[in-house]
Amino acid sequence: MSRLSWFAAGAFSLIAVLFIGATVFLRRVDGFSAKTAPSTSEKWLAQRMRSMAVTADTKGRVNPVSDSPEVLEQAKAHWADHCAGCHANNGSGRTEMGQHMYPPSPDMREPETQNLTDGELFFIIENGIRLTGMPGWGGRDRDPRDSWKLVRFIRHLPHLTAAEERTMEKMNPRSPDEIKEEQEEKEFLNGGQAHAHTH
Ligand code: HEC
Repeated sequence: MSRLSWFAAGAFSLIAVLFIGATVFLRRVDGFSAKTAPSTSEKWLAQRMRSMAVTADTKGRVNPVSDSPEVLEQAKAHWADHCAGCHANNGSGRTEMGQHMYPPSPDMREPETQNLTDGELFFIIENGIRLTGMPGWGGRDRDPRDSWKLVRFIRHLPHLTAAEERTMEKMNPRSPDEIKEEQEEKEFLNGGQAHAHTH
């Protein structure tokens, strides 16, 4: 065999051994499950990589949408409809979907999220996060101001009141089963009232 083919054979064996080793290791630690929590080092690495992917210009962008009650109301409705399924109305991430993803939805009221700049939050909402469940919402038929409004709402999350949460619950998407159940409940209540009137 020539020197080159020895080298190729050596490199191939090394890759094969590493691959088999990694597979065995990941099987043993249940590494392919989306239900295990990411390790600290994995989390750190993912956050570094994400931070590097955002340019300084993007990080430093100033929110062009002012902080007004109307903006907050619009963002709340948007969040309840599009984001709460994974992030929960209060941003805790404690939803069935959010907790069983890998990585799971973070608690966005915590400093880890709140310390990101407005520009970073905007970038994440528009582009999503690769290799995670976070979708990118930007697109030609969407107004980027909607994402800036959501940034305002994310800043509001640590101060969200119980009353605000209750109004948002009414704006969460309903499954066909839930719609049916509500309908039946309404009919039952109406029926009950009609019945009461006859006495
Ligand atoms: C299908 C589930 C899903 C939906 C829907 C979703 N997200 Fe996420 N989002 C995630 C997950 C999972 C992460 C965490 C990813 C990670 O750890 O890097 C995340 C992360 C984020 C982050 C970064 C927070 C941080 O500290 O790293 C922001 C900001 C965010 N989402 C905003 C939104 C907004 C706004 C919406 C609605 C327009 C939305 N997301 C809808 C799953 C979702």
